[in-house]
Amino acid sequence: SVPTMPVTLKVNGRTRELELDPRVTLLDALREHLSLTGTKKGCDHGQCGACTVIVNGRRINSCLTLAAMHDGDAVTTIEGLGTPDKLHPMQAAFVKHDGYQCGYCTPGQICSAVSTIAEIKEGIPSHVSGDLTVKPQMTVTEMRERMSGNICRCGAYSNIIDAMSEVAGIDQGGVD
Ligand code: FES
Ligand code: FES
Repeated sequence: SVPTMPVTLKVNGRTRELELDPRVTLLDALREHLSLTGTKKGCDHGQCGACTVIVNGRRINSCLTLAAMHDGDAVTTIEGLGTPDKLHPMQAAFVKHDGYQCGYCTPGQICSAVSTIAEIKEGIPSHVSGDLTVKPQMTVTEMRERMSGNICRCGAYSNIIDAMSEVAGIDQGGVD
C-alpha cells in the first residue's frame, strides 16, 4: 500500500485532517478527498488557472502544488467565498455582468479576481509599468495583466473585467 502522511488544512475556515499520499496535489486533495469540486481541473499543468484557490491570502494554482506543502495553511475555495444566499461581492458582480458562459473557468476566475484586487490595493508590483518599484494603480490594464493566467475558452474576458471594475470601484465610462 502507498504510505500516507497526515496533512491538516484549514479549508474555508474549517480544520480538515487528512491522511494523504505525499504526491497528492492540493487540487486533488480538495476535489477528491474533501469533495470540494467547485475548484476545477482544466489543464493540471499550471496553464489555465481553473484550479486557482487562495492560500494564506494569496492566489495559487492548486494543481501545481502538493497538499503536503500546505500543512497548517488556510485555504479559501469558491465554496468559502460566498453562499447561494449570500454571494461574495465578486460573485454577485459576475452574475450581474454575465462574467461567464459555460462556467468552467469561473471559480478560478473569481478567486483570482478577488486576489487581484487585493494585490493591487496592497501595492504588490506587476510588470505593467515596466518598473517594479512603481506602485500599481487600480486600472483595467493592471487587472487584465494580472488576470492573464486565467484562461476562458468562452471568451468572457470583457465581462469579467466589467465585474471586477464594479467591485474595484473603477468608472469605465458607463459601460455595462
Ligand atoms: Fe491548474 Fe490548469 S488546472 S492551471
Ligand atoms: Fe466557459 Fe470561461 S466561461 S471557459
